[in-house]
Amino acid sequence: MQKNNYGGLWLSVFAITVWGAGVARAEDSLDAETKARVEKFEKGPSTVNVSKYPQGIQDNYEVFSTKCMQCHKLSRPINCDFVLADEWSRYVKRMMRKPGSGIDSADGKKIYEFLVYDSSVRKKTMLDKKLAQATPADKTAAEAKIKEVRDKYDK
Ligand code: HEC
Repeated sequence: MQKNNYGGLWLSVFAITVWGAGVARAEDSLDAETKARVEKFEKGPSTVNVSKYPQGIQDNYEVFSTKCMQCHKLSRPINCDFVLADEWSRYVKRMMRKPGSGIDSADGKKIYEFLVYDSSVRKKTMLDKKLAQATPADKTAAEAKIKEVRDKYDK
């Protein structure tokens, strides 16, 4: 009985260690396709020139650039092919849920707004292409979400 308890204890220690290593080294669990894709993203620029963006978006960029480079390079989100508000909302939530992200919902919202704004400027070609492929209803909904963010910050 005593022996089994120790066994359980050591198993927990082992599990926690493995889990901890998994947080620090995000890449290990990726399938080959995802790995190739994210490596390509990470080869691109690792900063965004925000000097022409509204002050509020520049402030949000600070949050983005601190929080979103804890587990991987910032160039990953900067060069990935997400541009629509819904894509960002889904992905920011997914990243917030990862163990140890330390991103609360207030930060999550600022990051989301930065990414939506930035995509509407820097990734406009990709955005327009995706909007053109969407159904009329989805296109209208997607444009409304972008407009909401732009109206909040553009003055
Ligand atoms: C706690 C660790 C962690 C943090 C913090 C984190 N990420 Fe990630 N990110 C990951 C992991 C792990 C993957 C690969 C697996 C996946 O997509 O879930 C990833 C993948 C990505 C991808 C690649 C998507 C693809 O598969 O094409 C993007 C884009 C991304 N993250 C954006 C962000 C953004 C934006 C933030 C800040 C809100 C962020 N990440 C913060 C762990 C993190």
